Amino acid sequence: MSKWREQFSVFRHRPDWAYFDSAASCQVPDVVLDAMCSYQKEFHANVHRGSYQQSQHATALYESWRVKVAGFIGATADELIFTRGTTESMNLLAESLLRPVLKAGDNVIVSLAEHHANWLPWQRVCHQVGAEFRVAPLDAEGRVADIMSMVDERTKLVSLTHASNVLGVVNPVADICAQLRDKGVLSVIDAAQSAAQMGLDVEQIGCDALAFSGHKLYGPTGIGALYVRESVLASMQPYQVGGGMVDMVYQDTCSFHQGVQGFEAGTPNLIGAAGLAAAVEFLQDCRANGSSEYLRGLFKQMHDVLADVSWLTMLPHSGGRIPVISVHHPDIHPRELAICLDEDGVSARAGRHCAQPLINQLTSNGCLRFSLGVYSSAADIERLARGLNGCKLQPS
Ligand SMILES: Cc1ncc(COP(=O)(O)O)c(C=O)c1O
Repeated sequence: MSKWREQFSVFRHRPDWAYFDSAASCQVPDVVLDAMCSYQKEFHANVHRGSYQQSQHATALYESWRVKVAGFIGATADELIFTRGTTESMNLLAESLLRPVLKAGDNVIVSLAEHHANWLPWQRVCHQVGAEFRVAPLDAEGRVADIMSMVDERTKLVSLTHASNVLGVVNPVADICAQLRDKGVLSVIDAAQSAAQMGLDVEQIGCDALAFSGHKLYGPTGIGALYVRESVLASMQPYQVGGGMVDMVYQDTCSFHQGVQGFEAGTPNLIGAAGLAAAVEFLQDCRANGSSEYLRGLFKQMHDVLADVSWLTMLPHSGGRIPVISVHHPDIHPRELAICLDEDGVSARAGRHCAQPLINQLTSNGCLRFSLGVYSSAADIERLARGLNGCKLQPS
């Protein structure tokens, strides 16, 4: 068992399990589970409220996790809001950043490759306000094409995925954000798929906001991070209101905290933040020990196995920058294929992957996606090859 695989209790219990769905959710290593458990067992108290020592210590821990997670993407703690994940981050931005400035006749642009989380929140506000919701097409490689030609003087915001969750294809976001900045258009990046695979630096990307989810980088579910450039954050309206984000409350009026605390209403997901900070540390350690090169090698092996299966068609992919490949067959439903492979202990993800506009353009019935994590192994890919060769669904 590899040095990474053995750090996941799920694989110590199921050593032969070939898990190919890390793009949906990664398995969680012991070190992350231990950090969460230790916080809850020893250090828990509500934060930002208590004057007793345990609460002050919990507050200091929570804020240290914010510093760690912010540092992971080259941001400062003043620009990092903890959310439930990318979906909540995009809803927050749509309501707090976009809605207050969007007028009838304005427009918002996304690309065809977006996950529904980076489509529906913007589409809804546009429909409600009477603004236009524009969708930029993709080129033959699956990258966003010609997005700047869709920008005009009524464009308020562009929200773009860094890497497609179906194709893994990476968009040139730094280049696009620089052009948007010159035109005074807000830029939002969905980094849900890229955060675990690429070193992210929000200054280098030059975006106004960027979101990712903990569970896609070896952290727990229910926690994610939203970076917002400080000057942009200052212009945003509160999202949810309640305890924690409020300063003064009177019968007729109230005032809210400035900065990131103003966007974290209610008791935060403290155990989740502990897990996310530990996951970031785990990931940084993996990278320092060669996980990116390891995953590129495995990606090539997986690519060669899938390319050899003549009855399946491969969709465009990133060549390994994001270790995701999707395949399809016009007459075999991907769910049937997934069930067939599952009988051999191979778990892959079938369907439309919360990206219906993209899938509807690429295939008639969805696709089967294979994605890798640091615990993936050559043995997993050999198991996949055997599963596909023996699959009773393959056309004769
Ligand atoms: C590209 C992309 N964006 C957004 C999301 C939504 O993330 P979450 O479900 O963690 O909110 C996903 C999840 O699959 C994704 O892959």
